[in-house]
This record gives sequence, C-alpha cells and structure tokens, in this order.
Amino acid sequence: MKKLLCIGLILCLCMTAAVFTGCGNTANQSTEATDATEAAETTATKAKTGGIDYMVLVNKTHPLPDDWEEKLETVHITNSVGDDVEVEKKAYDAYLKLKAALEEEGIYVDLDSARRSVADQQRIMDEFTEKYGADYAAKTVATPGYSEHHTGLALDLYLIIDGKDVTENEDMMTYPEIWAKIHEKLPDYGFILRYLEGKEYITGYGYEPWHIRYIDNVEVAKEITSKGITFEEYLGTASSAPVSIDYGSSDIYTEEDLKAAVIQIECKFASYDGCELHNIRYAGDDAVTEKNLNRMNEINPDAKYTKVVEFLMDFHTPESTDNSTLKPDTEYTDYSWWLARTDDGGWDIVTFGY
Ligand code: DAL
Ligand code: ZN
Repeated sequence: MKKLLCIGLILCLCMTAAVFTGCGNTANQSTEATDATEAAETTATKAKTGGIDYMVLVNKTHPLPDDWEEKLETVHITNSVGDDVEVEKKAYDAYLKLKAALEEEGIYVDLDSARRSVADQQRIMDEFTEKYGADYAAKTVATPGYSEHHTGLALDLYLIIDGKDVTENEDMMTYPEIWAKIHEKLPDYGFILRYLEGKEYITGYGYEPWHIRYIDNVEVAKEITSKGITFEEYLGTASSAPVSIDYGSSDIYTEEDLKAAVIQIECKFASYDGCELHNIRYAGDDAVTEKNLNRMNEINPDAKYTKVVEFLMDFHTPESTDNSTLKPDTEYTDYSWWLARTDDGGWDIVTFGY
C-alpha cells in the first residue's frame, strides 16, 4: 500500500510536471522484468461455486456483494519487491498480456496490490486516518467493505524504471508520459483506469494513475476509455452532465490550495448517492476571517487550524434518497462547505450544509 502514501499537494504539482525520464529498453530491464514474472509462483485457491460478475460496481455507495468470496478464484504471485499479491485469475492472465505489450514499448510494471480482504483494508484505513486525518484518508482509501480491491479485479501497478522499482506515489506521479502510454493500452486487455483526474466528485477518490480495473470486456473498456468517462457514468449510476468549478480569484490562496480543498469536497460529495453536481464556487476572500477560523477551531478544538476557506455548491438530489439530511428530488443551491487548514498543510472539511 505504499502507493496510497501520496499527498494531495504533491499530486497536483507532479501532475503538472511533465517529467519524462525515458524508458530506455535496456537488456537489464527486460531480463529483470521477465525474471520477476517467471519467478512469480501462481497458485489457484479453493474450488468456487460459480462465475463472478466482471462488471460489478464497488464504490463509496456500492459495497462488495455478499456472495463474492464464494465465487472468486484467485492466484498468488510474488512481485519484484518480494511481496505476495493475490489477483483474480482471469484479471491476472489479462494483466500478463498487458505487461508483455508494455515491455515491447520499453515500459516495465509490476503489481503492488490487488485483492485485499476487509481486514487488510481496515488496517490501511486505520493507518491513514492516524497519519493524515479522516478526510485525507477518505479521498485515498476506501472504507472496508467498499473497496474495489476486495473484488480481486482492481490492480495497483508500480513502475520499474531503469531496473529500479518505483513504488511510492509521489515518485510515480513524476512519470505522466509513461502512465499515459500505459493507460492507452488498458482497454485492449479489458482494463479501464478507475479514478480519473477531474472526476473525483463521481469516483470519490483522488486521481490514481496506478489503479486499473479489469472488466473482462474489451469493447466496453474501449468505449469507456475513448469517451473519457468513469465506470459509474458508463453504468448510469452517475450523471455525465457537465460540472463547473470556479476558483474565483484570491489574494490569500493559490489555485493549488483551492484545488486541493475542492478535491476534498468532491470526494465527500461522491458518497451522496445519486446526487447530480452542477457547480462548486470559491466563496471569496471575505469569508477568510479570524471569526470564521475561530468558529472552525471551536468545532474541532484539538485541530489548531491556521486558515479557513468556504466553497458553495449547487446540486440536485435523486428522486429517493437514504440521506437523512437531504430532501429527495430537490435543487440545492449555495450549499456551503467550510474547510480549515491543518498544520501539515492539508484541508479538513469542518462543517457543511446550510
Ligand atoms: N485506493 C482505493 C480507493 C482503495 O482503497 O480501494
Ligand atoms: Zn488501488
């Protein structure tokens, strides 16, 4: 789970940095990558009761189906850093083909993490909440029971550059051109990229270039990829209506600061099942007052916030909703989100609503 260690700020900076270190196709790289694959010991687990649904949706509002484990067939491999990785069988076969095709272009990848149990996910969630706070954890790690990794169909890749394993998020983010080449090939092998940049309000997670999802359908994977849509939009559980984000102008915050705050809001909003987002707007520097900061610190006295920010949102609720605080089929305008800056430079969502 090293890849989950990236921080939002680094993510934004790295995404704009077009650092391409080149994928020199050296004999060493090729040999090492092949050796790692061959060394991988694959073993099928227990006999299973039937086929899984490769199009299953698991996200912030759709948990892993109850009978999943009974049907899932997996293999275990050992990756180039010596970790055991468990993957759904067919997804692994497709991954090997993807990997081979990438190697022909001088791009080397391996599997960091694939199938995770609910207990594994809980451990990761606890670690992230402890280290980075609940809001950062919520945009980076799925709630146990709601992680696509439980399916065995979600694969986290890492890069091998010049024979070296690049496993940390912030390091991997410095290779956008390599990821672009990898993403281009995904649909040919039945994979899609799951957490797209700019679609955080749908997926509920920050951009993850390494998290790919096997759907066992090349045509559908090609359609999703060519349209640049999320799996949720393809399945119709989220609207593809355009969303506008207005960072306004600020003498206090940079656009990077405001973007990081907006992603935090969007990731929370994605758990408002079926709501259609229209826009998010920076409420302006006038809201950045000592009085409002004190209000945030009164709500969370231990946090010792240093700055405050407000955003406004317009959205529409679905015809029926389980959300106890929202009315169904209603247009919400100027819904307010107050965030405060933590001492590590991140943002906490402190309060929201009217
Ligand atoms: N990092 C993805 C969202 C997960 O924890 O499932
Ligand atoms: Zn992942």
